[in-house]
Amino acid sequence: DARAVASTPPMGWNTWNTFGCDVNEDLIRQMADSLVDSGMTSAGYRYVVIDDCWFDPERDAQGNLRAAPDRFPHGIKALADYVHAKGLRLGIYQVPTEKTCAQRGGAYPGETGSRGHEVQDARTFASWGIDYLKYDWCSPEGSLEDQKAAFTTMRDALEATGRPIVYSINPNSYHDDKNGASYDWGHIADMWRTTEDIKPVWNTGHHNAYPMGVVNIVDINRHLADQAGPGHWNDPDMLEVGVYDVEGFKGLTDTEARAHFSLWAMMAAPLIAGNDVRAMPEKIRAILTNREVIAIDQDPLGIQGKPVRSKGGREVWVKPLSNGDRAVLLFNRTKSPKTISASLREAGMDDGTYRARNLWTREETSVSSTISADVPAHGVALFRVGPTE
Ligand code: GLA
Repeated sequence: DARAVASTPPMGWNTWNTFGCDVNEDLIRQMADSLVDSGMTSAGYRYVVIDDCWFDPERDAQGNLRAAPDRFPHGIKALADYVHAKGLRLGIYQVPTEKTCAQRGGAYPGETGSRGHEVQDARTFASWGIDYLKYDWCSPEGSLEDQKAAFTTMRDALEATGRPIVYSINPNSYHDDKNGASYDWGHIADMWRTTEDIKPVWNTGHHNAYPMGVVNIVDINRHLADQAGPGHWNDPDMLEVGVYDVEGFKGLTDTEARAHFSLWAMMAAPLIAGNDVRAMPEKIRAILTNREVIAIDQDPLGIQGKPVRSKGGREVWVKPLSNGDRAVLLFNRTKSPKTISASLREAGMDDGTYRARNLWTREETSVSSTISADVPAHGVALFRVGPTE
């Protein structure tokens, strides 16, 4: 079953957040090398995804897609071979409509979307060795019903190739930025974007309108927990950990970056990094490769954690885990440090004494009725709580 490719939330890296349209085969090869050398790959990041602008603005005489020859002189198949030889997988971007988002916005020429070419394009991707398709609705037209039909057409075309390909859709771009969150896409895609685009900023004040900050995304995705599970994930967009200076946004502080990563793990979100891994400071590497936090995200039970309490900017989130442990997140949304406490009972645990491991400081304590921490502004304390030995 192709859906086994997403039995846990897909993890990888994507060009868009740092490089936008500036993509080429050298960049992808270097990033693949760096993902392996930095330990990102062994921490779980497997899919290297080329976002918008990789293609020639015109299809060939038979209507086939081809890579932009100046920037991908060896073609996508050779790049897939390179990436596969490193133990990684290759992803690519396309749209169900006429124009990709960059084409729609005028940043890139041509009209090479998959509309009317779905079967042909799926076969092209499979023949190149593509393992992941990001399929992005980008049209001023189309109802939710049109989207369901178009996303289903490509799902079927991918399945017909016989190649397992992660199917990552975005129903939000350009036309209706609410469609990702207003419908459960789990029977069509492995993962679906639930919000407008994220930027490296804490809060833009936008409720599902471009551009989104970390908390704006969380405030939409938090309500969608019940529809997530193995093989079908809410996608609150890619990681901005280690991404700086984009569209006037300076980037997250380290505290905010840890909160962003922790919240995505609690929400069982796909973890798709977007930073320049070739020049990654150790402190960023330490966040992105924190295996104990990644294990919360990748827990095989596949439950999307949710807040059990939210008051005055102090939140308590809980995510049940497969071995009976619980991840408990104390989240301070305010601009000043706060002490946040949760009772074990509200975290869904019976009375007793438990071991609480702080997954960022790696300190272990024994807790009996409450779990508590001093949490910095825009910060979190993340615990794994389980039985004492
Ligand atoms: C949309 C998507 C982004 C990115 C761009 C590419 O905005 O939401 O993630 O793929 O298109 O143009």
